[in-house]
Amino acid sequence: MSLRDVIVGIIRKEGPIPFSRYMELCLYHPELGYYARPKEKFGKSGDFYTSSDVHAVFGRLLARQFEEMWRELGSPAEIDLIELGPGRGLFAQDVLDWSGKKFPEFAAALRYRLVESSPSLRSRLEQRFASDTRVKVYAELEEAAQECGSALIVFGNEFFDAIPVEIVSEYGELRIGEKNGEFVEVWTEQSRPTTDFLYWYGVNPRPGERVEAPRLANGWMQRIAAAFAERRGFALFIDYGYTREQQVAGRHRDTLMTYREHQTSPNAYEAPGEQDITAHVNFTALQQVAEAGGMTSLGLVTQSSLLLGIGHETEFSDAFEGCVLPQERVKVTLQLKHLISPEGLGESFQALVLARGVEKVELSGVSF
Ligand SMILES: C[S@@+](CC[C@H](N)C(=O)[O-])C[C@H]1O[C@@H](n2cnc3c(N)ncnc32)[C@H](O)[C@@H]1O
Repeated sequence: MSLRDVIVGIIRKEGPIPFSRYMELCLYHPELGYYARPKEKFGKSGDFYTSSDVHAVFGRLLARQFEEMWRELGSPAEIDLIELGPGRGLFAQDVLDWSGKKFPEFAAALRYRLVESSPSLRSRLEQRFASDTRVKVYAELEEAAQECGSALIVFGNEFFDAIPVEIVSEYGELRIGEKNGEFVEVWTEQSRPTTDFLYWYGVNPRPGERVEAPRLANGWMQRIAAAFAERRGFALFIDYGYTREQQVAGRHRDTLMTYREHQTSPNAYEAPGEQDITAHVNFTALQQVAEAGGMTSLGLVTQSSLLLGIGHETEFSDAFEGCVLPQERVKVTLQLKHLISPEGLGESFQALVLARGVEKVELSGVSF
């Protein structure tokens, strides 16, 4: 049975379902969802590239930032790093390798906890880190958090953009129905939680326009803030995203996008379970929810300024280590440029940096 048939069956039984439920089934159905299937998603043979696919320097620079966070916390003997949605674990590998090489004291204190909902990715992670006693894999944030000590870092790269969203237009809130086995869009009255979300953090759609209401992401941020209760530390999230001001200025409206074999399409109904579906992240909402949960926002910066802030003092030596031939340096320079420049990923990604229980702190990542 295909995922399309499964979803059609659900709609026939329950009536039209919210778009977020449709997106949830497409991405996370336990057997047939995009992230549950064993097919490669990441890198050249997959559907999309993330920053860790570009070059290990992404993880190396972030390792430098995590080490600075650890020092800001007074270099505790143990620190837990929870990574949300680690995928195949490339970033974690780069952070662990580089910390071991460059920051041995931090590496000795580090316990790396990977929270991944996809069972197939979890077993890949377990294999990758089988011999590393510092690494543990979990299905749920709370499971990981209860094993953490008093110093904590939570990190996510492209985690929030994979969380299901609601979609709104001038006709109301989107539900997915079916007709003769094909999905059809049905508009229903906008729900109260969605109206509230748009009022506090977003914008209302103009005629002919769609906007997303990423309500479920707020629930995640509440859970993350709760993980910091009785703990000190930092959280850092990097994602495609926007602020409310940017939306008011007319940008980042209708950001839903699908990825399949490096082709993008706004059509989320083409290939359920075979295409990734993402939406940009509402950083205004995440920032405010985090603050309501007791965290302090240290800044929302572009990936460009995050990486420049971390790397400029060492002139990005983290990138060039191991380059022997001039052409190797040229290649790495281009990869670094892709991560940092506005034409590459530098301006489309933003980084939200949060702290808990830390007095006045100046992190290099938010200094540039
Ligand atoms: C776009 S991928 C990013 C992967 C990785 N961070 C990277 O940058 O290459 C999103 C990841 O988040 C995971 N994910 C989505 N929802 C999750 C949840 N509720 N709990 C844990 N992981 C989740 C997905 O399975 C997937 O591995």
